[in-house]
This record gives sequence, structure tokens and C-alpha cells, in this order.
Amino acid sequence: MLISDRMLLKVIVLGDSGVGKTSLMNQFNKQYKATIGADFVTKELHIDDKLVTLQIWDTAGQERFHSLGVAFYRGADCCVLVYDVNIQKTFETLQTWHEEFLKQADPSEPENFPFVLLGNKVDTNGGTDRAVSEKTAREWCALKRNIPYFETSAKENYNVDEAFLCVAKTALASE
Ligand code: GTP
Ligand code: MG
Repeated sequence: MLISDRMLLKVIVLGDSGVGKTSLMNQFNKQYKATIGADFVTKELHIDDKLVTLQIWDTAGQERFHSLGVAFYRGADCCVLVYDVNIQKTFETLQTWHEEFLKQADPSEPENFPFVLLGNKVDTNGGTDRAVSEKTAREWCALKRNIPYFETSAKENYNVDEAFLCVAKTALASE
């Protein structure tokens, strides 16, 4: 959506309960706490000569889509999928999140809709005992028309700003 010279981009963050979605949001707004249905934080970025505002919607992993409703997903500019690199199951369900997002948001060109994948909690175990390798994650992204991939740690604030800069650029590129 264009508001004078500013861009407002709606971003929806999805992934299993406990992967760290809310913790990632907390990197932008320290006051924000519980996930009750859905809530958003905003993050402003300068890209080229534009001021871009990301309106980032956090959702509750356990409630899935049913309580939120289709209207919530309509008008999304980017979907951020999050999994926990230490828990295989959270990687396997990415497929379901991806499908359900497209079903609910129903974008005009689903094959070109921008997604970004975050593999969170790369700090745990020093990365030696992780369940999903970076290679495996990148292969999945390649199969999904080259979804950009970032390994993050909300705990150590590692790569989070970089990931959301990419979210903004990816969303803008498909405007
Ligand atoms: P739901 O709201 O239930 O869908 O979960 P969520 O995805 O919002 O997860 P949340 O941010 O609440 O994090 C779950 C737990 O993982 C919390 O105890 C966090 O402190 C922890 N956590 C989140 N991110 C990281 C991380 O990068 N590293 C580590 N070690 N722990 C993390
Ligand atoms: Mg949460």
C-alpha cells in the first residue's frame, strides 16, 4: 500500500509454536510480549530513497489459522516462515504453513508470492547438534522458487535485522 511517499508493507510471520516468532519480534519492540491470537509491531527501514514501514504480524503457532480468519491474511505483502533448526518437526510443518498461507491469503499470483524462511535458534548447542542442516533448508527453499533463507538467533539478536531488510526488499520487488 502506498501512503504518499511512504510504503507500508504487511508481513505475516508463521511457524510452529515455540520456534521463536514472538522473540524475533521482540528485537524490534521490547515491550511486546504474549501472542494472543495475533498482534503486530512496526519497523521502519530506509531502502534507496524510500521510507518503508513493515507492519509485522505475529501469530500464535498453536491456534493455526482457524481463529484468525481469511480477512487477516488478505493484503499481505510477504510471509515469513520460521522453524527451529534444532527440532525436525518444525521444519517438516513448513510445507503445511506454506500451503495454508497461500490458501488463506489467496494472492493473485501464488507462484510469485514473496516468502522468506528463517531458521531460528542457531545459538543453541553451538550449532553442533542441530536437527536440520543449512543445506537441507536451502534445498527446500530452492524447490519453492528460491525463497531467501536466513539463519537467526532471537536470543543473541543474530541476523534478525538482515532478515527483515530482505523481507522488505523481497516484498518491494514483487509490488
Ligand atoms: P507461539 O507464540 O506459541 O507460536 O511461539 P513463538 O514462536 O512465538 O515462540 P517464542 O518466541 O515464545 O519462543 C519460545 C521459546 O523459545 C522461549 O522460551 C524463547 O525464549 C525461546 N527462544 C526464542 N528464540 C530463541 C533463540 O533464538 N535461541 C534460543 N536459544 N531460544 C529462543
Ligand atoms: Mg508467540
